[in-house]
Amino acid sequence: KNMSTLIKNGRIVTAVDDYNADIFIDGEKITQIGKNLEIGAEKVIDASNRLVIPGGIDPHTHFDMPFGGTMSADDFESGPRAAAFGGTTCVIDFAIQTKGESTLKGLDTWHEKADGKALIDYAFHMIITDMPDSRLGEMRKLADEGITSYKLFMAYPGVLYVDDGTLYRAFRQAGDNGTRICMHAENGIVIDEIIKEAVADGHTEPKWHGLTRPTRMEAEGVYRSIAIAEVAKVPLYIVHLSCSDALEEVKRARMRGIDVIAETCPQYLFLDKSYYEKQGFEGAKWVMTPALREKWNQDELWQGLKFRDLETIATDHCPFCFKEQKELGLESFTKIPNGAPGVENRMSLIYNGGVVKGRMDLNRFVEVTSTAAAKAFGLFPKKGTIAVGTDADIVIFDPERKETISVNNSCTHHMRVDYSAYEGFEVQGFTETVLSRGRVIIENNEQKIEKGGQFVKRALTGSRLD
Ligand code: URP
Ligand code: ZN
Ligand code: ZN
Repeated sequence: KNMSTLIKNGRIVTAVDDYNADIFIDGEKITQIGKNLEIGAEKVIDASNRLVIPGGIDPHTHFDMPFGGTMSADDFESGPRAAAFGGTTCVIDFAIQTKGESTLKGLDTWHEKADGKALIDYAFHMIITDMPDSRLGEMRKLADEGITSYKLFMAYPGVLYVDDGTLYRAFRQAGDNGTRICMHAENGIVIDEIIKEAVADGHTEPKWHGLTRPTRMEAEGVYRSIAIAEVAKVPLYIVHLSCSDALEEVKRARMRGIDVIAETCPQYLFLDKSYYEKQGFEGAKWVMTPALREKWNQDELWQGLKFRDLETIATDHCPFCFKEQKELGLESFTKIPNGAPGVENRMSLIYNGGVVKGRMDLNRFVEVTSTAAAKAFGLFPKKGTIAVGTDADIVIFDPERKETISVNNSCTHHMRVDYSAYEGFEVQGFTETVLSRGRVIIENNEQKIEKGGQFVKRALTGSRLD
């Protein structure tokens, strides 16, 4: 028999609503919302003085990912658990095509990594590393399997990089299929030349990761991928946009009516390149791509969120332990695995930096942390809002509670990594109780269930633009 739950007295906030009501959940779905519901339920949760919001959706994580000569430190058990503690109930992770092999085989590999392990629901984008004509048909099969978005890289030559011809072929096919392209937009070919110059000059420290990645090379990648997407007629999603130069290119294209949306991440909203100047090797903790930028870019990104030129906030969670993993690059910044942790901290960081600091209202907070990603990636309205008939993925959020984010704070750090990228950050606004398809998985910051998250097949995300 289905478990039933009644959430009473909460303030329900979605991307457009804000009202006080009770929510009745029968099994996995919300079946009634109303004032003073008088229905018997097996479980009753009092949400007085709490926000009741759609569970966060993080459309960019890398669990159990081989990268930089090692594996990202969170797998599909620890990553989704940490996400849940932080108020995220669905992630879209990245399956990877091994170059020269079938994308469908890559998908099987990621199902093996994830299925049966995760606490929350998850979906996959597919990272495409080559796309000869003979494989184009696989993209339709992927869409049928619920993989309706594909990430391609202009960065990381020799690893994940693909040339413009491959971009164009994959873009055409994705557009024909009614699916979306995710773009890592940075000119990796030129960046590699800049890195060679720095290495030849004897530079080895972490800060050279930032110094070898000019914002203009991100802006160029954004411009070029938008131009190719326009010609190929495919909806585009720029991942992890980090700076004003890149944002300007997105704005210009949107002004021309091009279907491009963009994601930014907490690291680009709260951290800046001065982190690379820390003592000794410590800057390696923030070696990620794109790199942290000059601080003034942060205001531009917040403005972009406010005026809707930026659509979503994802974490690009790609954790590597400082000891032994980041230390692979002790001799040279070029060997530091790229990526940083953050899947657990996103909701509190954005609530604090956005709502508490007056940069966005509550509805926009829900939109950028949940609803917009659901809409961009074929999860809406199953996920991303609170309404009758939707999955009961619900977060009960305490808007007053303060915490200090730290690797040593057992409330803010369940990620399997030995440092926090936001060490010492004080946040107001904290996740208390979390429901995933009606199951109370976290209650008063305690985990109640071990697993039960499911793979979510996503719907088509865009229609052919001609
Ligand atoms: O440094 C990063 N971002 N690592 C993860 C891979 C990617 O490019 O998203
Ligand atoms: Zn990327
Ligand atoms: Zn990423």
